[in-house]
Amino acid sequence: MTQDLRINVIDHPLVQHKMTLLREKDTSTASFRRLIREVSLLLCYEVTRDLPLTTRKIQTPVAPMEAPILDGKKLCFVSILRAGNGLLDGMLDLMPSARVGHVGLYRDPDTLKPVEYYYKVPGDIADRLVIVVDPMLATANSATAAVQRLKDGGAKRIRFLSLLAAPEGIRTFNAAHPDVDLFTGALDSHLNEHGYIVPGLGDAGDRIFGTK
Ligand code: PRP
Ligand code: URA
Repeated sequence: MTQDLRINVIDHPLVQHKMTLLREKDTSTASFRRLIREVSLLLCYEVTRDLPLTTRKIQTPVAPMEAPILDGKKLCFVSILRAGNGLLDGMLDLMPSARVGHVGLYRDPDTLKPVEYYYKVPGDIADRLVIVVDPMLATANSATAAVQRLKDGGAKRIRFLSLLAAPEGIRTFNAAHPDVDLFTGALDSHLNEHGYIVPGLGDAGDRIFGTK
């Protein structure tokens, strides 16, 4: 039963294709890194689809025109360390002037509870649309804690973007942060007894950084 889940699944064929390559266990570290960067470009495209536009008077080689342009640069990407940095790189390729924050969390393997070790965000975070990125929304303990930390730090408008999400985590997150829209590249089946997403792609941080 997944009808109750509030999440935007970005199921563009290119996302699905690249996600399959990411999931394969024999994909090399170099390919995994390249693919996650490519997918994050596509996901960024969707998560920013409704950004407000204004116009600017320009001159084309043929005629003057009132041309559309993004209204202001009040955006901040927040990466949940360390795997979030895999998504962040592609997002910055697309929007190089975005501000960036970092929340350092790791999931204790026994309790599955997040442990914070770093927090640094722009001082004017309250004025920015914040897009939090982390490839995996599993139990959502990490995502829920990171978003709460950002709210405590003043953030008011927040979206959360993952590569993969599990129904259990989506329910937890929706209940904790009903005001935060979720976006993901794929909705997977369930969590296993170790809190890993099934079928998933394994440990995202280890696969991005080649640490296992
Ligand atoms: C992974 C992932 C998320 C978290 C998701 O990070 O990048 O942050 O687990 O799990 P949850 O939804 O059950 O909290 P991990 O703790 O492995 O740290 P890392 O990014 O440093 O590898
Ligand atoms: N963290 C990961 O990296 N992968 C999972 O499947 C769950 C949490």
